[in-house]
Amino acid sequence: MANYDSAPHADVPIPYKIIEETNSHLIDEPTKEHDTLIASLPLQPSLERTITFAGHTRLYKDVWMRENIIRGILVMQQCLKTRPTDIFLASFPKSGTTWLKAMIFATLTRTNRSIDQHPLHTHNPHQCVMFMDVGFATGRSQIIENIPSPRVMSTHLPYFLLPDSITESNCRIVYVWRDPKDVLVSMWYFVQKILGGADKIATFDQYYKNFYEGLNSYGPIWNHVLGYWEESKRRPEKILFLKYENILQEPVKCAKQLAHFLGCPYSEAEENQGVVEQIVELCSIKTLKNLDVNKDGNHATSTAPNVHISHAYYFRKGETGDWKSHMTQEMAERFDTMIEEKFKGSGLHI
Ligand code: A3P
Repeated sequence: MANYDSAPHADVPIPYKIIEETNSHLIDEPTKEHDTLIASLPLQPSLERTITFAGHTRLYKDVWMRENIIRGILVMQQCLKTRPTDIFLASFPKSGTTWLKAMIFATLTRTNRSIDQHPLHTHNPHQCVMFMDVGFATGRSQIIENIPSPRVMSTHLPYFLLPDSITESNCRIVYVWRDPKDVLVSMWYFVQKILGGADKIATFDQYYKNFYEGLNSYGPIWNHVLGYWEESKRRPEKILFLKYENILQEPVKCAKQLAHFLGCPYSEAEENQGVVEQIVELCSIKTLKNLDVNKDGNHATSTAPNVHISHAYYFRKGETGDWKSHMTQEMAERFDTMIEEKFKGSGLHI
C-alpha cells in the first residue's frame, strides 16, 4: 500500500503537492536564458491584451501565448526526459482538465486506499497532477525529474508545440476537448473570477470576437483539437481522445475506457463491487465542489504574479450548453459553421 504522505518509491502517483513540498530544495530560480528571445517576439495589441489575463501575450510559432508559457516550452524542450511510463493530460483550457486530472489520478491510485481516504478528499486535482507548462517556466525541472514513475503531468500546449521528447516517446497522452462555445463561456467566467469582477475584463462580445479569430492564449481552439485528433487517429493506442460531453453522458463507460487505456483496466471483481461507479462519484463535480479543500483552498499561480487561484474557481456548472444563455442563435451558428468548416474532412464534428 502506498504511503501518500511521503512515498519516495511509490508505484502509484502521489499528489504532486507532496512531492513539491518534500523536494522544495530542488526548486531553482526561473531561468532568464530565454528572455531576449521572448522579448523579441511580437506583442499582442493592447485590445487583445486586456482580454487575456496576466502579463504580456506574444506570438510564438503562430500561437499567441503568455510569456511564461513560452519560457516553459523552451525549458521543456531542453530538460524534459520523457519516460515510456509517463502519462500526459492535454487539453485546451476550460475543456475539462480538472475533471480528467481527478479521473486519471483516481483511476491509477484506486487500489491503494479506500475511496473515503483518497487524497482527492484533501487535495484539489491541480495539486495532484502538476501543470508542466508553468512548472518548467518556474524552475521546477529538477523536481519533475524526481517525480517517481508513473508520472502524470498536464499541458495546454497544442500537439505541434509538445517537445520532441514527448512526441518521439512511447508515452500515453489523454486529450479532452469540449464544445468550443462552452469553453468560451467557461473561460470568460474563470478570468472574471481571477481578476475580481466583470468590470475588469472585456465584454462577452469582445471575448467572442477574440476567440472566433483565434487570438486567445494557446491559439485557435480548432487547431488545438485537430492536432490531437489527427495524432490519435495515427496512434490510438497511445493517444486517447475524449469529449467532455460524452463523459457527462456516459461516465461509467468513459471511466472504463480510461482505465483500459492507462493499462489498469477494472477487474470483474471491481466492476461487481461498484468500484467504477465509486470513482466516477468521487470525481464528479458535485462531490469535488463540496469538499472543504475545494471550497476554501487556493494555490499560487505563476502565470499571474501574486495571484492565488481559489480552488472553487475550477468548479462552476459542469454542464453542456451554457452558451445558450450567453450567445444569440446567430452568434452560435456563426461559430459552429466556422468550426465545421475547419473540421471538414477530418471526421470530427462538434
Ligand atoms: P463550466 O465553467 O462550464 O462549469 P478546466 O478544468 O479545463 O479548467 O475546465 C473547467 C470546466 O470544467 C468548468 O466548466 C468546470 O465547472 C468544469 N468541471 C470542473 N470539474 C468538473 C467535474 N468534476 N465534472 C464535470 N465538469 C467539471
